[in-house]
Amino acid sequence: MPQHGIPANEIDTSRPHPARIYDYLLGGKDNYQVDQEAGDALIAAAPEVRPSVRANRDFLHRAVRYVVGSGVRQILDIGTGLPTSPNVHETADQVAPGTRVAYVDNDPIVKAHADALLGRSGRTGVVLADLRDPRSILDHPGVRAVIDFDQPVALLLVAVLHFVTDEEEPHRILAELRDALPAGSYLVLSHATDDFAERSEAQAVYNKASATMNLRSRSRIQEFFAGFELVEPGLVQVPLWHPEVQPQQSGDIGFYGGVARKAPVPGPSGQ
Ligand SMILES: C[S@@+](CC[C@H](N)C(=O)[O-])C[C@H]1O[C@@H](n2cnc3c(N)ncnc32)[C@H](O)[C@@H]1O
Repeated sequence: MPQHGIPANEIDTSRPHPARIYDYLLGGKDNYQVDQEAGDALIAAAPEVRPSVRANRDFLHRAVRYVVGSGVRQILDIGTGLPTSPNVHETADQVAPGTRVAYVDNDPIVKAHADALLGRSGRTGVVLADLRDPRSILDHPGVRAVIDFDQPVALLLVAVLHFVTDEEEPHRILAELRDALPAGSYLVLSHATDDFAERSEAQAVYNKASATMNLRSRSRIQEFFAGFELVEPGLVQVPLWHPEVQPQQSGDIGFYGGVARKAPVPGPSGQ
């Protein structure tokens, strides 16, 4: 897989891609007609989808400020999406300038745009790799150049795990990533749900896309935090996670989000 200069013929415009649909829903310009049609079909099937992706993006920024505010200085952002200002390192810089960020996505168009826009300052890196093969991420020289796995890391899995099917074993993926992180690391996770509305029509839009949409219930999403301790208020609809404006309306916003800390392994005495 080439790491520099993605050939144009790797950009697939014949079917919608999650990164580009999301960019369209956020009001971005890095998308094609197939993505716009898919986005419009989503909005028709689930009118809350646009406020939901905005709320998800806002959650991402609040969660990044929280983990950096808690002392973490390196972020592994898997399923980062097309660059959208502010990007994760810019948000982190608001709290601690110089925080290192490894951006990972499996879509070549994301890597191409991110390479161009996020630069190669040495403290950010952009890697083309697949969440379903976590070892390839953990061992990737581009990730290792930015992330020191002996120091706490904030692992971001924001609006990406719902593109992983049950057959692809999301629990195995989470376990492998978690085991690579030292104590004091954080997991920031958000995930689409149909707990608040029947969403089979919206889900079906992704049947023609490059990845399927796997909506899950709150209890199933909570299982992904195994081995971590959720910080307050736990796993909630994303507008309700550390809102900056009170009171927040969550309505039928279709994303849950949570932030959790990896606790030290108890010693022999249980301490
Ligand atoms: C909805 S966007 C989320 C972007 C960003 N994390 C956010 O929440 O604002 C999902 C991203 O995950 C990427 N993605 C989907 N499946 C993936 C996989 N198996 N491995 C890595 N990235 C994946 C897509 O290409 C897309 O860029």
